[in-house]
Amino acid sequence: GEVRSIRASLLEWYDNNRRDLPWRRGGDGGEEGEDKGAYGVWVSEVMLQQTRVQTVIEYYNRWMLKWPSLHHLASSSLEEVNEMWAGLGYYRRARFLLEVIASQWLMPSHEFYDGAKMIVTGGEGFPRTVAQLLKVPGIGEYTAGAIASIAFKEVVPAVDGNVIRVLARLKAISANPKDSVTMKKFWRLAGQLVDNSRPGDFNQSLMELGATVCTPLNPACSSCPISSKCQARSISEKDTSVAVTDY
Ligand code: ADE
Repeated sequence: GEVRSIRASLLEWYDNNRRDLPWRRGGDGGEEGEDKGAYGVWVSEVMLQQTRVQTVIEYYNRWMLKWPSLHHLASSSLEEVNEMWAGLGYYRRARFLLEVIASQWLMPSHEFYDGAKMIVTGGEGFPRTVAQLLKVPGIGEYTAGAIASIAFKEVVPAVDGNVIRVLARLKAISANPKDSVTMKKFWRLAGQLVDNSRPGDFNQSLMELGATVCTPLNPACSSCPISSKCQARSISEKDTSVAVTDY
């Protein structure tokens, strides 16, 4: 049906057009296995919350050189982290990253002491699901969905501003991100669309489409893999007074 065709078109487009971003290269496994990749996804998603991809790349690479794993980060100080963050703004994000590692959640039955020790000695490890991630300070619905789907393949949506715009146009829904009822609609819709076998790639295909094709102004509809399904496009073709840029 319609949903399956949208999924397939988006994933195929993503496979052919995904940008080669450093956090998409995955971890090299090693002792921490899957958590290595999760650490990178986590750092990148926190940086991307308020900062453009082009800017994040440089900061991300520098961060990973200095602290290639949770263990390295755990032995750093807030001062060092803030210094690394200089220029990115919203320093709260950096503090949260560090605090997560030292958070009691990761090892509830132990005292707060050294973050690296907590993880090495086998606490709960990385939170892997949206429900677990939401308990971490500084992680909201979007970041939880992004980390869980990209790093751990949980079949959950991740709705950011780019995704809202894509879905709003696809279904001709006016997007008012301040209206929680409307926002629930977008999350529900995204949850129905997300691909079962490749949830992380699917979510990133929507983000990527919004960032590069389904742009706020002058969207490149002729390059869009789902333009034939797009309700805003079909409306604006019949009635030129309705601009796709309304969404
Ligand atoms: N913006 C936020 N997260 C992103 C991701 N994983 N890929 C591309 N853009 C993003």
